[in-house]
This record gives sequence, C-alpha cells and structure tokens, in this order.
Amino acid sequence: MDHFQYRNGTLHAEDVPLAEIASAVGTPFYVYSTATLLRHFALFDDALEGLDHLVCYAMKAASNQAILKTLAQAGAGMDVVSQGEYMRAKAAGVPGDKIVFSGVGKTVEEIRTALIGGIRQFNVESEPEMAVLNAVALELGKVAPITIRVNPDVDARTHAKIATGKSENKFGIPIKRARAVYAHAATLPGLKVIGIDVHIGSQLTDLEPFEQAYTKVADLTVQLREDGHDIIRLDLGGGLGIPYSRSNQAPPLPADYGALIKRTVGHLGCEVEIEPGRLIAGNAGLMVTKVIYVKSGEGRDFLILDAAMNDLIRPAMYEAHHDIVPLVEPTPGTLPHTYDIVGPVCETGDTFAKERALPETSAGDLIAFRGAGAYGAVMASEYNSRPLIPEVLVNGDQFAVIRRRPTLDEMINRDTLPAWL
Ligand code: LLP
Repeated sequence: MDHFQYRNGTLHAEDVPLAEIASAVGTPFYVYSTATLLRHFALFDDALEGLDHLVCYAMKAASNQAILKTLAQAGAGMDVVSQGEYMRAKAAGVPGDKIVFSGVGKTVEEIRTALIGGIRQFNVESEPEMAVLNAVALELGKVAPITIRVNPDVDARTHAKIATGKSENKFGIPIKRARAVYAHAATLPGLKVIGIDVHIGSQLTDLEPFEQAYTKVADLTVQLREDGHDIIRLDLGGGLGIPYSRSNQAPPLPADYGALIKRTVGHLGCEVEIEPGRLIAGNAGLMVTKVIYVKSGEGRDFLILDAAMNDLIRPAMYEAHHDIVPLVEPTPGTLPHTYDIVGPVCETGDTFAKERALPETSAGDLIAFRGAGAYGAVMASEYNSRPLIPEVLVNGDQFAVIRRRPTLDEMINRDTLPAWL
C-alpha cells in the first residue's frame, strides 16, 4: 500500500494534490511520500521483532538526504557502497556505527574515509580487498570490523542484470572457500571478523532463493564457530521485490520474509541485519511528467513526454514495467485508448511503455509513473544535456523541494575549456 491515491478526482501524494506540486516546481519531477517510506521501514522492523536486528536501508535506491534523515529518525541504519554514499549518510546525520559499507571495489580512499569517520562494519568482497583493508586499518592504528560476503551459488530467479548470487557473478567469495578465507582473515591484525554477509539479488518475487541462501549461511555459521570464529552478526542483504503492476500477483510480504529469517537463522543467536532498498523507496515515489505531444503514427499513437530515459532508465535498461496513471482520475466507464509512451531522446530505446491503455490523453496532460521511488532519480543522467529533474518530499499536507532543478547555465558552466581553445 502507498499514499498516492485519487481524492476528489485528482491524484494526491498524501494530502497534497500532485497538480499543485507540478505548478510549483514544473515537470518532470520525482515525488516521495514520507508516510509510505516510514510504513515500509516499519514493515521490515516489525518483521524482525524478537531478533536483535538493524534494518540498514540500501541508500543506492534513493539517496536524497531528506529520505535518509526520514528513515534514520525512525531508527534505520544505512547500507552504503561508495564514499559519496557514506558522506551523504553522515551529512544526513546517520552515525558511523549505523553505517555498513558494502560494494565489490572499495578503494583505499573510501576505506580510509569510513575508518576515520566510523563504521559499523565492512562487508568484504574479496581477498585482495581484505588485504587492502587490513593495511589501511593498521596504518590508521584501527581495527576494522568485517563480515565476508559469501556467494552461495543460488539462482535468485530475477532479471539477469540484478542477480548476484550465482557463482558466475562478480560478487562475494565462493561459499566453498569461505572457511579458508575466514582462517586467513583471522590472522590479519587490522581486521576483526564479526560475521557473514550475503546478498543474492534484487526484485526477488519468491522466497525460495532466500531460504536456500540463508540455510547455507546458517550452516556456515556453525562451521565457522567450530573453527573458532566469533560469528555474532549476519548481514542478509536486500532484494525483496515489490509489485510494479497492480494487475500482477504481489510478491511476498516483509512479514513472510521476516518469518523466513527467523526460521533459517533465528536459532543462532546472531544479530541480524538486512539491507532493503527497493521495497522501502520504490512504491514511495512517483515520477510526474507532462505530455508534450500526441502523435499519430502508422497504426499507433504516441504520447511524447517531457521525461525521458535519462530521467527514469529502468524501462530502457531492464525492460522494466511501471504502471502509468493520469493525474486526473478517469471517470467510470471511460474507454481506454492505447498508446506507446515515449520520451524525446533520439533513441528508440527511449520508450517507457508500448501499447499501454490510458484514457484519451491530450498535450499538456500530466501523468505519473508509479514505483519510481527506487532506482529512479539516483540512476538519472544529463544525457542530451537534459538537467537532472527535481525531487520533492511530501509529509501530510506539506511538501518541500529536496533537490531543486538546476538551471541550464549551472549544468553548462560545469564544463571547463582547455587553454588552447
Ligand atoms: N545490498 C546489496 C549488497 C545490494 O547490491 C543491493 C542492490 C541491495 C542491498 C538492495 O537491494 P534491493 O532491496 O533494493 O533489491 N538498478 C536496479 C537494481 C540494482 C540493485 C543493486 N543492488 C533496478 O533498477 O532494478
């Protein structure tokens, strides 16, 4: 459930009509609902009740500081994958001991920043990275708390570009080699091994792959303890999918996921961390855009929008489906019209949806992409010299611009010309 509903015939974000935001900030823009963000966070937090746990929001999904602060105030930790994310989390007021550092290629600079600024743990992804982390920690006179990300060789049954838990993927160390790698880690004085990390992919719509992975992690915990390691924390990653289409069967609920966690690893007495991103932010955000032209083609009509693939890349990149709805509620009995919904960028890939049913739509009408809160604004680019679009946060009957639209001059003036030109 989200807080984007029709009221008095127009789509609202909580108590604010989206058309009002559109008049204030122009289109296109992203808008997030505070109540939905908090609701989604609470679903996970409640699902793990009874376990010592921390929900670390995977801020790669949507990293505006206003979103981070909203979640952090509710008790969330953060999962970061770069120095930029780490510093954003800090800037939003998240203490270092609630920040987990994930990612396959942490640089010396990134490691140093996190060790100096404070970190809950590093999720180490390889032996070379382990060696670098050890060296940087020793140089700073610190001991880095670590988990090691294991690759459980499980098929997450999701889109190939976002599956991470098979042995052919670049992530983690093969679970078969885990005991040897942990033994090595224990000899490094700059590291303190505290746990195990696993993440098998994103937009999982089935609990079975989680069950397989977490069962393997539970077995490994027992083995590693027998080997003498003090395994006190399990980071179980993110990945629970969201309903992108109202007409499809909904994925499992966080409560079911929580029950699965308790069933598979609950008996081990470990502190449990999870790193959900998409489920917290995805359906807490929309992208609102305006129809620039309605163009009749051969056998099909196109809605040409003022938003494009550079603003929301998921359809072009993953063939992703986003429900698209008009801001003005269709009156019952309105006959749907079929459109191809496209952006103005000069690539056929700049197509958001084909043969999509919408009420008859005219130039100037506003429409919204649902499920755009995660991996939307954060994946945007300035391709075609189109400036990044603004982000707006709604809270009850208030709204605030949380990242303004840059001027064209600001964008253009970032270029610098070499002396010879
Ligand atoms: N933890 C790690 C280590 C991850 O790599 C990810 C996502 C997450 C947590 C959060 O997963 P989530 O709960 O959001 O599924 N851009 C793609 C999704 C990429 C996911 C990358 N890793 C998309 O738009 O579908």
